[in-house]
Amino acid sequence: MNSILRDAATRGARYLEDLETRSVAPSLEALERLSELGGAIPEKPTDPADVLALLDEVGSPATLASAGGRFFGFVISGSLPVALAANWLGSAWDQNAALVAASPVSAALEETALRWLVDVLDLPSSCGGAFVTGATMANFTALAAARHAVLEQAGWDVESDGLFSAPPVTVIVGEEAHPTLRKALGMLGFGRNRVVVVPVDGQGRMRAEALPAISGPTIICMQSGNINTGAMDPAVEICAAARSAGAWVHVDGAIGMWAAAAPERAHLVAGVADADSWATDAHKWLNVPYDSGLAFVRDPEHLRGAMALSAAYLPFGGQREPSEYTPELSRRARGIEVWAALRSLGRTGLADLIERTCRFAARFAEGVQSAGYAVLNDVVLNQVLVSFGDEETTDRVIAGIQADGTCWCGGTRNDLAGPVCDAHQRFVVGNHAKRCRA
Ligand SMILES: Cc1ncc(COP(=O)(O)O)c(C=O)c1O
Repeated sequence: MNSILRDAATRGARYLEDLETRSVAPSLEALERLSELGGAIPEKPTDPADVLALLDEVGSPATLASAGGRFFGFVISGSLPVALAANWLGSAWDQNAALVAASPVSAALEETALRWLVDVLDLPSSCGGAFVTGATMANFTALAAARHAVLEQAGWDVESDGLFSAPPVTVIVGEEAHPTLRKALGMLGFGRNRVVVVPVDGQGRMRAEALPAISGPTIICMQSGNINTGAMDPAVEICAAARSAGAWVHVDGAIGMWAAAAPERAHLVAGVADADSWATDAHKWLNVPYDSGLAFVRDPEHLRGAMALSAAYLPFGGQREPSEYTPELSRRARGIEVWAALRSLGRTGLADLIERTCRFAARFAEGVQSAGYAVLNDVVLNQVLVSFGDEETTDRVIAGIQADGTCWCGGTRNDLAGPVCDAHQRFVVGNHAKRCRA
């Protein structure tokens, strides 16, 4: 048994070393070879060592080298070595993170990591939290707590009685809310389109002065970190308007909430801590392996009210019972890698990671501009939007970059800015951090 695990570790380490030199995009030949992984289910067992070898020899070349330092697409990071190593050890532990009784170590790591996260993200110390798969599910989880709270306030038990005949809830979103936020709203029965849409400014920020008059059960979904521009909705104004009307404010901070951890960027998220719930990703800026999202709720009882199975799962021994805060019961122990990344980086390491990536983004933008191309956004965070001219030219440049394989940039569409090429500098940081610790 040990030899196959050692073989996997060797192959994994070699894969990461090769990222420095290989084409970022897989070759056509590598993609064609994927058929070797298909076919009918084998009739007889295969030697596990041969299965691993096949996976590596055919699978590794067909990956997009998104864990490496020349990948700038989507919002995809590269794991810190310590987080990846913790993930490997945690996979060996094979813990079920549902219950304290099923994994004391996972429960303890989650509690500590949550406390540290609340500290570095500058959230209220009262917050409860949940380790979920990503920001989509973090939005879902936090918005389930919001639904619980605003309907409880209106005298309705939504977990028991559902949404049919419930008092109507007004949901307010910005025009540039991430599509996954709308998806989360749909999954919660609010409807993807049964929302009040607030117009945005030229950077995709919700225009606070355009908020509608608020009355009755209301949830305002604001965004910290626009996917295209990195811009933040104006939290101070939104939270003040919500507070005076008794509305709930939820923050989709998949990208931008991490600005709070870097003293020089923290001003960008001023007022965000005044919200009621937050969603972010650890598999983005914290550079831990997939999948890892985080939901936070100011009053943990609202989260527990939405997610707990039954009284049978009440906390015991004074410890937080993990499954009372998540949609799932059985799940992998994601807190392991989050804990390891934070334990390794510390407060200053995390601040440096955030600040450094933002600086790289600014440098990237300067380089593109001095080469004669247009940067379409104010580079406040780590997103750089570049136009190479008209839509067709921009598309052609993006396709050329991807086919060349030296690096990888993705296209996006921003109704205000036109078609653009986005570059998420955090990937450089992921690699830089790897080199620092090698
Ligand atoms: C603002 C925002 N919200 C939500 C998401 C969805 O995150 P995930 O893919 O982790 O579910 C993203 C992804 O980029 C995002 O940028």
